[in-house]
Amino acid sequence: YSFSQPCNEPVLGYLPGSPERAALEAELERQSSLQPEIPLIIGGRPVRTGRLGKVTMPCDHGHLLATVHRAGATEVRQAIDAALAAREDWLNLSYHERGAIFLKAAELISKRYRALLNAATMLGQGKNAFQAEIDAACEVIDYLRFNVHFASRIYADQPLMGSDSINRMEYRPLEGFVFAVTPFNFTAIALNLNLAPVLMGNVTIWKPASTAVLSSYYLMKVLQEAGLPDGVINFLPASGAELTETVLDDPNLAGIHFTGSNGVFNALWRGVANRLDRYRSYPRLVGETGGKDFVFAHASADIAALSTGILRGAFEYQGQKCSAASRAYIPRSLWPEVRQRLVEGIQSMKMGDVRDLDCFVNAVIDRKSFESIQGYVEKAKASPDAKILAGGEGDASTGYFFRPTLIEALDPRFVTMEEEIFGPVMTVYVYEDERFEETLHLCDRTSPYALTGAVFAQDRYAFVQACRTLRYAAGNFYLNDKPTGAMVGLQPFGGARGSGTNDKAGSGLNLLRWVSPRTVKETLL
Ligand code: SER
Repeated sequence: YSFSQPCNEPVLGYLPGSPERAALEAELERQSSLQPEIPLIIGGRPVRTGRLGKVTMPCDHGHLLATVHRAGATEVRQAIDAALAAREDWLNLSYHERGAIFLKAAELISKRYRALLNAATMLGQGKNAFQAEIDAACEVIDYLRFNVHFASRIYADQPLMGSDSINRMEYRPLEGFVFAVTPFNFTAIALNLNLAPVLMGNVTIWKPASTAVLSSYYLMKVLQEAGLPDGVINFLPASGAELTETVLDDPNLAGIHFTGSNGVFNALWRGVANRLDRYRSYPRLVGETGGKDFVFAHASADIAALSTGILRGAFEYQGQKCSAASRAYIPRSLWPEVRQRLVEGIQSMKMGDVRDLDCFVNAVIDRKSFESIQGYVEKAKASPDAKILAGGEGDASTGYFFRPTLIEALDPRFVTMEEEIFGPVMTVYVYEDERFEETLHLCDRTSPYALTGAVFAQDRYAFVQACRTLRYAAGNFYLNDKPTGAMVGLQPFGGARGSGTNDKAGSGLNLLRWVSPRTVKETLL
């Protein structure tokens, strides 16, 4: 027998005149004026608390997209009870039955709800059509199909006959519930932080990011339509503090699946540590946090590939990917031409509303983010150690628009070379060609993070040297390509150091974090 690996979902082109473009434009128009009232979903049923929050567009912050009911401690308790009640039946389903639900969800999204999820991701999270398509359609579908495939291999991996015994491994889910805390920047990550645990038989309490609640809600509805039983995933928009305290206090907390900031992950970890005595099991803590992802060019680099890699890696989705390139090391011999290409590339980028499908750059997610980006750029303007080469301006009057910005740092430890900005800001340090090795060490030591990195070189020895010196500098390491856009099944995603627990989303390694296996030996009498 064989396990056939799924194919990645093809990316649609949205060219003028194409059916997918017409469907997307119609859906954008529909959702622009719909203003749904989003409930919590507890035990499969909508719950309305009356504590309403607003969902607005990053590209037009006066435009109300939806209102959302927010959970308080009472609803969190109800959700935990609903999850635990659903757990018994769910874990007793065979993995084939669980997998069938997620394969059906993949088909529903591929054929029926693609425009729904893409439009919600565009309007609510400020992605252009291509960025939404590779996230809310393709990566979502890939996570669904590939995780079912990875799970099939895990469940099939069995020790069997010994000389006097029959042995098997029972891949039990964790004993309790998993807390999924999901980010705004990828609809696919919001899915996967729930999917990976529940596919392995767990139940979740899902706290979606308040700035991505629209796409998260539609995702939840699609999973329900695909047959997800009540209570397996409980959808709880809420303010962080109130929800988290109630969840962390519960003895049945069995794991946390997180993507977001270091500050929040560290607080969750400390919260668990402070309550260790009350838990039935040691909770599994799986988190992806920050990044300060690099592009490192050797003098043998292909200049066109390098320049495109920087422009796309740094500025697609306004630099708001944890994988986004935000610092680059360029040899002096290549710099004049690379610099010209980067500046021209930035000047040619059209910025505007997501509903104008020609825009490459849209708004950043919210005012807090806009102001933080502006703060970093102001530091560069004020410092003798940095020069702004392109961009540098923002306008938050209608939407949170910040021009893609290129900074040259004269000091390789300038603040924008070191700290995560999470916006469209790329800082370049130009090194002398003969200092290649020394500069690799500098790159390794400059940031506490280690998520993604890209090396551009045509000289194989240079690449091998970079691989060795930067062994722990990135969990996803690319040669001659941008450091973003990991594909499920091809480049499992995650990094160590300050970037998280490196439990590789989009691989069987991640799924294994959500089981607590029991070894069963049957002695032959
Ligand atoms: N997986 C995404 C990427 O590789 C980031 O989360 O760009």
